[in-house]
Amino acid sequence: MQDIDAVVDDALTLFAGINDADELERVKARYLGKSGAINELAKGLGKLPPAERPAMGSRINAAKSKLEEALKDQRERIQAAKLEQKLKSEALDVTLPGRGSGLGGLHPVSRTLERAEQIFHSLGFEVADGPEIETDFYNFTALNQPENHPARSMHDTFYLENSKLLLRTHTSPIQVRYMQTHQPPIRIIAPGRVYRVDSDATHSPMFHQAEGLWIDTHISFANLKGVVTEFFKLFFERNDLQVRFRPSFFPFTEPSAEIDMSFGEGWLEVGGCGMVHPNVLRNVNIDSQQYQGFAFGMGLDRLTMLRYGVNDLRLFFENDLRFLRQFR
Ligand code: DAH
Repeated sequence: MQDIDAVVDDALTLFAGINDADELERVKARYLGKSGAINELAKGLGKLPPAERPAMGSRINAAKSKLEEALKDQRERIQAAKLEQKLKSEALDVTLPGRGSGLGGLHPVSRTLERAEQIFHSLGFEVADGPEIETDFYNFTALNQPENHPARSMHDTFYLENSKLLLRTHTSPIQVRYMQTHQPPIRIIAPGRVYRVDSDATHSPMFHQAEGLWIDTHISFANLKGVVTEFFKLFFERNDLQVRFRPSFFPFTEPSAEIDMSFGEGWLEVGGCGMVHPNVLRNVNIDSQQYQGFAFGMGLDRLTMLRYGVNDLRLFFENDLRFLRQFR
């Protein structure tokens, strides 16, 4: 019969050297399995003289417990090592700097829009707005361009199918909406998107305008010139900037003028303006004997191009981050 202590010593040494859970279970069978060493020892009991059996029996049991204990310990060690390994491989270095959250920035045209609002606000103007989908009435008729008026053809636009709705061609309808709901004195600036069927390096089917309107009892063309000139000087931060008012035609103003600003050797058209036509005031029930005023509209994309030296309008709408990042 094998020596019990030798079996136990062998097993303990063997178990201690195993680092793999499956391997451990296989080796376990060799000692504690049906035909394992412990069972073989138990089978030998019968061949012993009866008097020696109890003592030998309890030694075998003790050996069995010892092996089971050792197995359990080894299993735990293997598991702990495995966990340790896993934690190590997934370790985070909490001392590394963060990744940052990729801060965005305002679109250059939005910057112009906010800048225009700020400057006009400092001149006492309130900000107003209106819908981009307009009715034929607000976009044209109320602005003294009845149906079949030839000036409508200057604004080739997008009509919504089967309706009198259209994408507004200018911010001027906001004047009408505002005057319908407010009594003079009125002093507003109204920036927003407008739409026309037009597309090249300096025209996009969607672009931005800001509308201005000042109605009160004693507002003259001189006030118009003063406000507009002051705005352009402030916007471009140039006191020597010249603004020119060139006679023109708009159905909703009389007299009307184009706004040009000095640029290098020449002039650049940056908007239109004029004294609000009495018909427009009549359309919104404002007494044109008592009140008069001026209005103007200017292209914000053009102003943005000039301010930042951008030569192709389309760059603003391609959403190329290499371009946009430069304005952050
Ligand atoms: N609405 C005109 C346009 O888009 C611009 C304009 C001209 C607006 C004269 C005005 C104005 O308010 O008085 O072409």
